[in-house]
Amino acid sequence: MNTCIVGVGSYAPEKILDNKYFESIVDTSDEWIRTRSGIVERRQADENTAASDLAIKAANRALIDAKMEAKELDLIIVATATPDMFFPSTACLVQRGIGARAVMSFDIGAGCSGFLYGLAAAESFAKNGYNNILVIGSEILTRITDYEDRSTCVLFGDAAGAFILRKCGEDRGIIASYYGADANSWESLCMPAGGTRMPASMESVKNRMHYLKMEGNEVFKIAVRAMADSAVKTLDKAGIGAEKVSLLITHQANIRIIEATAKRLDISMDRVYINLDRYGNTSAASIPLAFDEALRNGRIKKGDYVLLVAFGAGFTWGGTLIRW
Ligand code: UT7
Repeated sequence: MNTCIVGVGSYAPEKILDNKYFESIVDTSDEWIRTRSGIVERRQADENTAASDLAIKAANRALIDAKMEAKELDLIIVATATPDMFFPSTACLVQRGIGARAVMSFDIGAGCSGFLYGLAAAESFAKNGYNNILVIGSEILTRITDYEDRSTCVLFGDAAGAFILRKCGEDRGIIASYYGADANSWESLCMPAGGTRMPASMESVKNRMHYLKMEGNEVFKIAVRAMADSAVKTLDKAGIGAEKVSLLITHQANIRIIEATAKRLDISMDRVYINLDRYGNTSAASIPLAFDEALRNGRIKKGDYVLLVAFGAGFTWGGTLIRW
């Protein structure tokens, strides 16, 4: 038996930050941002909104898509690097927010690969008797973005995306997946303060340590290698070639990373879904957000092979091949 996606939904806040806005706050240009990252605009949640609020909106849309009630869910998993708070988990807050029963609910922290890690967990739970599983990627990255750091502030946005998964036959659903992680270069992408290693203090706030720090160049190189490798290993496990892939949906971090990954797989760009230009990097939300859009735009049809590939802080990576 495979695990199938029976409902998909996403949500992004309405407020748009365009590249012109960044020209007014840091030493940058629309041209630099477009050519170096591929981003044109990104969304920003208002100050009263937390990750669980976006997650609840995406989850409710996925429930409508699946024609299901929240009470029918057996498990809730939220992938996020920007939870509402340390505890309770964002998944528990989502459980209450959507009116689900008192079912197992937990968060996954795997940076931008979190949503695919969530699918791996869902698949495993589905094989162990859990019926309807909600997996969400939700992020409010604009709250941990340093708007004085031009090298990172132009990149990130807020959004959430959700899948509902259930066991199904063998001709569709998750066909194969591959995951990995390597912490040798973890310092290249992290938020140093606010945890138990560097608790919040006057000093940590003054030194701007509660913001995301990234050595973009270093991350870029590792991301290209890891994403291409994840894709190849996932396809190998499925026993199919890249020519069979109808649509490649990668984590949306940088257009040049996406193009390099597609090139290594020999997949032409008309078979690659991109919405990075309109949302920026939304970390764990980026793949379900792009998937939902691709589905609504008719880019995913019955029988299609859709390859999902992610890379994120940790570093973590993974690939998931879905037959729709
Ligand atoms: O989501 C998790 C994984 N994250 C990623 O995969 C992100 C990976 N990294 C990237 O996407 C890219 O590295 C960036 C978009 C972050 C940066 O692009 P880059 O081509 O690697 O630029 P760079 O960091 O090598 O910087 C090149 C130049 C530098 O100036 P000098 O030293 O050559 O004079 C930077 O100071 O561009 C400068 N720069 C900027 N200039 C204008 C950096 N940020 C900006 C900016 N506007 N916003």
